[in-house]
Amino acid sequence: METQLISSGFQYTTLPRSYIRSEPDRPKLSEVADYHNAPVIDLGFGDRKYIVQQISDACQQYGFFQIINHGVSKDITENMLKVSKEFFDLPIEEKMKLYSNDPSKTTRLSTSSNLQKEKIHNWRDYLRLHCYPLDKYDQEWPSNPSSFKEIVRNYCIEIRKLGLKLQEAISESLGLDKDYINNSLGLEQGQHMAINYYPKCPEPELTYGLPAHTDPNTLTILLQDMQVTGLQLLKDGKWLAVKPFPNAFVVNIGDQLQALSNSKYKSTWHRAVVNAHKPRISVATFLCPCNNAVIKAPSELIEDESKAIYKDFTYEEYYGKFWSRNLDQGHCLELFKNSREI
Ligand code: OGA
Ligand code: NI
Repeated sequence: METQLISSGFQYTTLPRSYIRSEPDRPKLSEVADYHNAPVIDLGFGDRKYIVQQISDACQQYGFFQIINHGVSKDITENMLKVSKEFFDLPIEEKMKLYSNDPSKTTRLSTSSNLQKEKIHNWRDYLRLHCYPLDKYDQEWPSNPSSFKEIVRNYCIEIRKLGLKLQEAISESLGLDKDYINNSLGLEQGQHMAINYYPKCPEPELTYGLPAHTDPNTLTILLQDMQVTGLQLLKDGKWLAVKPFPNAFVVNIGDQLQALSNSKYKSTWHRAVVNAHKPRISVATFLCPCNNAVIKAPSELIEDESKAIYKDFTYEEYYGKFWSRNLDQGHCLELFKNSREI
């Protein structure tokens, strides 16, 4: 039978075989460092230079940071998490109306990661939405719960503003003009969302919600459940838990910013683990270059011509490659390296 949603209301007491990882590929949860967290940057404290410096340090050392005082109201984030939960709590028959495994669909509910390619599944269901321009896509979005469209629209508008502002600060932190990144990715750059739902898992040591991966887009802004941890990032060869911080978003550098920064900033490996006690929700917003935007490092970031780490490519080429592979197969950017660097 085709794999379908795991948020079906069925209470699993053992993990189905198709989710069980081989021994060396398991999360080894007891080895994960939780005494440490991704840097928290207060966007409301200190002058511009200080904020930009903290972003620069975090992007080089972690590829991740959390932000507080980001200007998005608590109402907007709380409603977003609440309506996401209401959506996943709907009866399975209702949710299945939106089910599809076709990655080219602009609105779809699906499960695991890339069912066509993967051998072992992941303990996750997700609703994937295209969010920009809103008027083009929002009629496809769920109309149940009845407040879904309005709440998600408001959230998308605020997050886009925040994302574009963050990309300005990131541009400055690379010593570039503040509009450099937004201009080179296109002012009409895309915005996608994945509302991730990780049900309670009977055997969390044997599987993942999402296995180690890097994000293929430019920048990811994640709203995570305050009560339940699950996100981990790889730093200096060790997995560390990104613990939820009150009223924060988690921000991470995607593959496109690693390429654009000539690898000064890293698109860091991260994963989501699951737990036996509580379902977990996270809302990931992905800013993505326009399809025809050419991704290349500016000359300021390349010492000389021979030091450009990546070939120039369009986002369309990149995204095609990304979906043709399995999520944990290795860094997709490796395929775009200049040959002399391999
Ligand atoms: C993602 C992702 C992490 C999480 O959706 O790409 O990394 O905690 N999510 O859900
Ligand atoms: Ni990710």
